[in-house]
Amino acid sequence: MSIMISARDLTRTYQTGDIEVHALRGVSFDIQRGEFVAIMGPSGSGKSTLMNLIGCLDTPTSGSYTLDGLEIDQLEKPLLAAVRNRKIGFVFQQFHLLARNSALENVALPLAYRGGLPADERLERAAESLERVGLGERMDHKPQELSGGQQQRVAIARALVTRPALLLADEPTGALDTRTSEELMGLLTDLNRSGMTVVLVTHEPDVARYARRLLEIRDGLLQRDVPTAEAWAAQDPHAPHLPASPVERARRVGRLPVARHWRRSA
Ligand SMILES: Nc1ncnc2c1ncn2[C@@H]1O[C@H](COP(=O)(O)OP(=O)(O)OP(=O)(O)O)[C@@H](O)[C@H]1O
Ligand SMILES: [Mg+2]
Repeated sequence: MSIMISARDLTRTYQTGDIEVHALRGVSFDIQRGEFVAIMGPSGSGKSTLMNLIGCLDTPTSGSYTLDGLEIDQLEKPLLAAVRNRKIGFVFQQFHLLARNSALENVALPLAYRGGLPADERLERAAESLERVGLGERMDHKPQELSGGQQQRVAIARALVTRPALLLADEPTGALDTRTSEELMGLLTDLNRSGMTVVLVTHEPDVARYARRLLEIRDGLLQRDVPTAEAWAAQDPHAPHLPASPVERARRVGRLPVARHWRRSA
């Protein structure tokens, strides 16, 4: 195995007027190539802040961060953007698709930002990427002509089109219903099995259990770092089992009890 992410004592302090917010207060972990990791924790605990650092959207206040062998924490903004474009695919809760453009054009966009590929090659790669997420038949549709789940698939195809080493997803199922969420997690599982390193943030235990490792963040600190199976078993071995979804039955992921305190408080 080789290391994809190495984080050491990462801190991130936001300064708003006179107030300092210590969003991350010293977080260390490694993620190996090919892992599937879920990050959970209460609202405001620092999950998105951490994802922004992992995703090279932001740099830490202190600490060191290495991505795929590159030291990131001291990089200047333009270099940071280049690393991001080369190494990372992002998926967000809101799909952030351009409404006037077709699925194909949306997916091809990151290749245009990168430059260096002629237009027909960009579109060819975008088409491949859409086929990979099962949307080969919908390439000419605009976002509003697609379901929520299909739009999120387009967003995933767009994240994959640059052939990133790392796929990052912040609440990717947050805007989807249960069934569509399961389909999407099935897709992420397939991508992970084909070798993609996946890190996702979620509030949903049903979503997190697709991952194999759980990082739990509390108050800017890493509270737990355990295999997901162990996390749920340790929580309450006698808790009622979650209903098995069709995807889950097919995949035999194993049924894990719900961790009560992780339920989204409505
Ligand atoms: N740009 C910013 N400027 C100032 N404070 C910020 C900024 N971004 C986040 N924070 C603060 O940092 C802390 C961590 O925020 P973060 O967005 O990382 O939480 P989160 O775990 O992703 O929460 P949620 O589950 O609600 O998305 C919060 O107290 C938040 O108010
Ligand atoms: Mg967040």
